[in-house]
This record gives sequence, structure tokens and C-alpha cells, in this order.
Amino acid sequence: MSRTSIGSVVATAFSNAIGKAFPSQNYAAAVTPCSSARFGHYQCNSAMQIFRQLKGVEGAPASPQATAQVIADNLDTAIFEKVEVIKSGFINVFLSKKFTSARLNDVLKSGIQPPEVPKRKVVIDFSSPNIAKEMHVGHLRSTIIGESLCRMLEFLGHDVLRINHVGDWGTQFGMLIAYLKEEFPDFLENPPKIADLQAFYRAAKTRFDKDEEFKGRAHGEVVALQSGDKNNLTAWKMICDISRMEFEKIYNRLDVKLDEMGESFYNPHIPNVLKILEDQGLVQDDQGAKCIFRPIKSYPLIVRKSDGGYTYDSTDMTAIWYRIFQQKADWIIYVVDSGQGEHFELVFDAAKAAGWITDKIRVDHVGFGVVLGEDGKRLKTRSGDVVRLVDLLDEAVERAKKQLESREEGDSKLGLSEQELSEMASIIGHGAVRYADLKSNRLTDYMFSYDRMLDLKGNTAVYLEYAHARISSVARKAGVDTEAMKAVTLIDLEHDSEVDLALDILRFGDTTLEAAELLMPHKICEYAYGLATKFSAFYRDCHIVGSEKQDSRLLLCELTAMTLRKAFYLLGITPLYRI
Ligand code: ARG
Repeated sequence: MSRTSIGSVVATAFSNAIGKAFPSQNYAAAVTPCSSARFGHYQCNSAMQIFRQLKGVEGAPASPQATAQVIADNLDTAIFEKVEVIKSGFINVFLSKKFTSARLNDVLKSGIQPPEVPKRKVVIDFSSPNIAKEMHVGHLRSTIIGESLCRMLEFLGHDVLRINHVGDWGTQFGMLIAYLKEEFPDFLENPPKIADLQAFYRAAKTRFDKDEEFKGRAHGEVVALQSGDKNNLTAWKMICDISRMEFEKIYNRLDVKLDEMGESFYNPHIPNVLKILEDQGLVQDDQGAKCIFRPIKSYPLIVRKSDGGYTYDSTDMTAIWYRIFQQKADWIIYVVDSGQGEHFELVFDAAKAAGWITDKIRVDHVGFGVVLGEDGKRLKTRSGDVVRLVDLLDEAVERAKKQLESREEGDSKLGLSEQELSEMASIIGHGAVRYADLKSNRLTDYMFSYDRMLDLKGNTAVYLEYAHARISSVARKAGVDTEAMKAVTLIDLEHDSEVDLALDILRFGDTTLEAAELLMPHKICEYAYGLATKFSAFYRDCHIVGSEKQDSRLLLCELTAMTLRKAFYLLGITPLYRI
């Protein structure tokens, strides 16, 4: 029972009632949660449509309200406490305390289970920075959003491949290899220790921009690399390894898991894939280049340059082919900034024309807006450089630490050791950056502000950490062991604020399903914040420790904390129990 979502239990009750009320037709039940618990818990608005469809038929109800009444009369009342028919034809229902309590007790027994959904094989391409270049805030968004989507999809039981499509095969390697050979002629015997790859990249670029002869050499090095020259492959690998180590540091800090399958991986498959596309007549010659023109855009995908080289487009056409036919994905997701939207439109359209994307396969470009500085312009350092990810995370942790230190000087101090303080600061700082990134609709640009993301009273990770710690401490302070209590006590809801909180807990699965369907992690943020708010109302309205309902209410606290932690997990936030 606990795996059927609460929303679908209500929807089924309405479908059954509609079936009984109007047996000759097959109507779908349109059921949504009510916007406010004052009106009801769920609402069904099928009556209007049914009324319209039945108009003129013998014996049909005279108004939407009358239609709604017939449905309401046929509703199985076991799960509802109150059913209200509104004049306009809406039916509002309140779930019964008994039913809601039983569902909660189920969750207590079997844990928070995902709603049942058909299992899919998902390939999700995210993070995907470029080798030899620093990971910047744009990649931060892809990494954070992508990781959160993976966690949601995995929770729902999908088979998820987390792919890091790193840019490891571009023309920048010609320049880098030429420069490496110049600076470290004995690189094969004495692999150099390049600590600052970005500085190395910059120096190579300066050389490249200023010196025509060097430019020519750089071009020769790419050609040699792409045709498999051994020394160049060694140099290439050396450079990739240094980059990889830098990326790994960030992934470890953010607890992000990825499998690297960079652009170079697809290289050997490109000729074969181009052949398939050519055989289908999708490829056209255009001044020596091979192009795929699609009616949706005025410019083509360039799948082979006139010098024979391959491009970002060649790789992406090959990658989508590989994902569908080799990895057998039936859902492919690209978490890449919105600026690349048109590129993906073309890739998807061409893959549809080739018959690769059928109606059984879902593809999504999960775009996102840019990160702005407090001046409202694209986030930059004071000197105008791109902001490095490490610096940004370090600063957030530093500020979280200052906040904790100043609290430790006041009355509400916890008496933390230096190590505890640092660990907490790290959790809060990383959580703050993540939550600030996830909390607004990903398509909008958002302003990066340390002050705002660390605001104890705002809709922030810090606020939620406090809420979680407070909820967890209720049982601890009462000195009871909720684990032992679970075996002997049942939740028995009484007060409206209790029911409200309980329903929110039960909606976790449906919310995750919706967030995953829309690929919108901010839905989980809204949920977590809403749950914390509902808890506050319950805490304000209901006496817990020492009341007649003590044990039931302590279990409700426990379930709230458990659910909040699950939401934290989906967002990549580590819970704190004391703060
Ligand atoms: N490396 C690219 C960039 O930094 C992102 C790659 C995204 N994935 C893809 N399949 N094109 O812009």
C-alpha cells in the first residue's frame, strides 16, 4: 500500500465514483492538491467537463454542480472525512484522520518508499567541463542540478547512467601540445608537474595568438593527435590527467558521482555514424564541409569540416546515437546552459529525422540561466576573470564559519571544538551554495549573494538546517527512544495542524515524481521549505511532551525529520542534528 502515491489513491477513488455515476462513458478524473488546506486536501474538477459532454443527453444533470453532486454521492467515503461540492462544480475532499494515520504508520514501518513508476534507462549528461580550462560557475550549475536530478531519478527506481561529457578533444589540444613540447622537450622521460593548468593554458594561448609560426605548428599537432600519433597521445593524456585531478577535487567536495565519457570516447564511432546519416540522405556538401540542414533552423549542423576535422556537432550526433543504440537509453537528459539550446534543438531534430528518436524515447535539454553578481551582471571576479569554483565554495565555507564563530561567542553557544566547527561550516557553506542554486526555477538567472544564501531567516539551507535540528531535538530532549517507540506506538492524528503536516509528509513521493517529470529541482526546495513551515504550525498548535498524545506526536516529529532528510539528500545537503 505504501508504494501507491497518496495522490493516486485519491484519483482512483474519484475515477471509481465517476465510473459508477456515469457508467456509459469513460471519463478521466482530474485531481489536484488544493491550494490551501482551508478548502480541502484534494480537489476534483472533472464535473465541468463531464457536464459539457453530456449536455443534451436524456437524463443528464442540469448543471456542473448537479454533475459534481452525482459524483460525490458515489464516492467511497472510507477515506474521506468531508466532501464538499462547490457551486462551480468543484469537489473538495478532506482525507479522514483514520486513513491518513494509517498511511503514516505504513511509512513508519516500511520507510519512505518511492511511488511506483515504469522503470527507465536514463542517460544524464551533466557537469561536462572542458579539459585544461577551469571549471567555472556555469559548470557549477550543471553539476549541482545534474546531481540532484540523478538522485531524484534513482530514488524513483530508474536505472541512471551519470555521464561526464568532458571536452577533451577540441582544437585547444594542438596549442597545448605544441606549448608542452616547447616548454618541456623531455616531457616523455620527465613528465612535468604542472600545478596550474589554467596558467599553462593562458600562456599557450598568448603564444598561439601572437605567433603565426606557432599557430601552424599547433594545427599540425592536432592533426597528428587525431591521426593517432603516439607521443601526442601521451602528451594529451598527461594534460587530461592533470585536469581530471582538479575536477575530482570539486566532485569530492560536492559528493558528486560521474562516469567520464568525454568527447574523445566517441571519436572512433564518428565515421560510422556519419555513414549512417549519409546513407539516409541527411548529409549535404557545403563548400567542402559536410552539413545537416534542418527546416527548423537557418544554419546547419556541421558534421565534418572542409579540412576533414570533426566538430562539437559530429560528437553530439555520435553521442546520441551511442546512447540510444549502445547504451539502450530510453530517456536522455542534457544538463547544459540555456545558451546551447539551439544546438540541442538541431541535434534532436536530426536524430528524429534519422529515426533514432522514436516516441518511445524521451530527450530533454535541461537548460539553465546564468549566475549574476550583485551588480546584476554575469558573475566575475574583481579583476574581471571568470570566478573559479573552488574559490567560491571556499568563501561560502569561510563565511559560514564566521557566522558559527560569532554565535559561539553569544548565549546560544554549543561549545564546539575547532574541528566540529570546521565540519559544520563545511556542511553549511556547501549546502548554502547548492540550495541557492536549486531553489529558483532553473531557467531564470539568479543572483549570487553570500549574505542572502546564509541568511538564517530566509528560504535558505541554513534555515532548513536549523529547522531539521530543532525537529530532531524534540524527541531527544524528551529523553525517549523513537526507534523503540515505533514498534509499540501508532500515530493517531487529531489536530488540524497535525493532519496538515501528515499530508505534507505523505506527499513527498508525489512531489519527487512531479519534480523528476518536469526536471525541476526547485520543486523539492519548495517542498522542504513548506514542510518546515507546516512543522512550525504543528509545533505552535499542538502540545507534545507531557500531553496525552505525546508518543504519537513524537513519532510525527520523527517522520517529519526523516522526510526532511530525504529531501535534503535529493538536494545534496548533509543534515545537521545540532546547530
Ligand atoms: N563541454 C561543454 C561546455 O563546457 C558542455 C558539454 C555538454 N554536453 C554535450 N553533450 N554537448 O560547454
